[in-house]
Amino acid sequence: MSTEWSPTSWQSRPAQQQPPYQDPQALGSALEQLAALPPIVVSWEVEKLREQLAAAERGEAFLLQGGDCAESFDDCQSDKIAQRLKILLQMSLVLTHGLKKPVIRVGRMAGQYAKPRSADTETRDGVTLPSYRGDIVNRAAFTAEDRTPDPNLLLRGYERAALTLNFVRALIEGGFADLHHPEYWDLGFVGHSPMKVEYERVVASVADGLEFFETISAKEVHQSLRAEFYASHEALILHYEQAQTRYIPRQSRWYNLATHFPWIGMRTAQLEGAHVEYCRGIANPVGVKIGTAMDADWLQRLVTTLDPNNEPGKLALIHRFGARDIESALPKAIQAVRATGHSVLWICDPMHGNTENSQSGLKTRRFENILTELEMAAEIHRSMGSHLGGVHVELTGENVTECTGGARGLSDVDLQRAYKSSVDPRLNYEQSLELALRLAGRSVLERRPARQRAS
Ligand code: PEP
Ligand code: CO
Repeated sequence: MSTEWSPTSWQSRPAQQQPPYQDPQALGSALEQLAALPPIVVSWEVEKLREQLAAAERGEAFLLQGGDCAESFDDCQSDKIAQRLKILLQMSLVLTHGLKKPVIRVGRMAGQYAKPRSADTETRDGVTLPSYRGDIVNRAAFTAEDRTPDPNLLLRGYERAALTLNFVRALIEGGFADLHHPEYWDLGFVGHSPMKVEYERVVASVADGLEFFETISAKEVHQSLRAEFYASHEALILHYEQAQTRYIPRQSRWYNLATHFPWIGMRTAQLEGAHVEYCRGIANPVGVKIGTAMDADWLQRLVTTLDPNNEPGKLALIHRFGARDIESALPKAIQAVRATGHSVLWICDPMHGNTENSQSGLKTRRFENILTELEMAAEIHRSMGSHLGGVHVELTGENVTECTGGARGLSDVDLQRAYKSSVDPRLNYEQSLELALRLAGRSVLERRPARQRAS
């Protein structure tokens, strides 16, 4: 691979999953505007996240990355954003309490508007139109006008990403994430949830701990609890990512300032492809989805291409093998990466390898398979002297019925009731909280070792 990199060098590589924009002038004008608009995040936040991810890589912190499979423009509403933030805060509280280590919170949000598709076109009743690729590209309605990729949607996506993150930042700055007030994060239906008692026990225990500390130290623990929240999305539409890529002279590096933590999807992780080329030149931490089709050589070259300097916290491998295949695939992946001498952050995505069709034809995932994959991931990493540093989940703060199982025992029949996703099935509020409680409650994940006492 050539060593010359620039924000546009990806354009000389084969680029999968790019919208066929028909009007180069309209595209050029949208990109020019995007490039002139202020960034959504800033470089020192990206630096801070990279340091935190380095701690997760060493087993000293844990990453919780979650949100919708795809955000929609219509869902850019205060209630929906607050609900997503609330469930992530609740899960992170439960995980921090159980694991006794800091939890890094990263939303799949504020920019997660594009989706890879298995086919470029869709045919209905003899009519063939471009596939719907997410709200930042085109519209879902099946008309030629709606399906034509519209470069102006890149600007609408940028605006909604900025509005979303602005609201999240304001909530957090205003004390919404303060551990003294977990009641702010209560979702309306928590009262009816089978998870209520266990969750309230964790909240009470945290409140006791805080009170105890504040009593003996005569200090209020507030600054450290105003937790950070980071944004991530799949870096799919490379024109969009390129337009928000800036050189920061103080750091002497290029940053993607559309998000803190972009990732490369499994369909676009070709070594010679445009997505790997784009991501290798930015200073942000970068994730790559890893599936069973990737052999040792592919994996090793991804590692040395995307993180040539073996920088702590730089590269996250997000494995999504599925409960059935993880036992055979993960040990090989760990060995392959170890042979490079590089260190990476290992994250388990227990969603995308466990998708199946329900009897009614709806896409679903079983809670038990999701939990099993996570438990096996933790166990395999532990047994090989590696660390599972985080979890990547598709979830919503709403009361949907898209995944089956969990304490309420949702079945295939329940899927009809409140299935809202137009893409992948998400854990609902209760299932998300249950997942966090189950991971934190048993000795599934690695806890911080108790401090050695001086003799
Ligand atoms: C996703 O994260 O929604 C996705 C498409 O994942 P993957 O690239 O792992 O298939
Ligand atoms: Co998905």
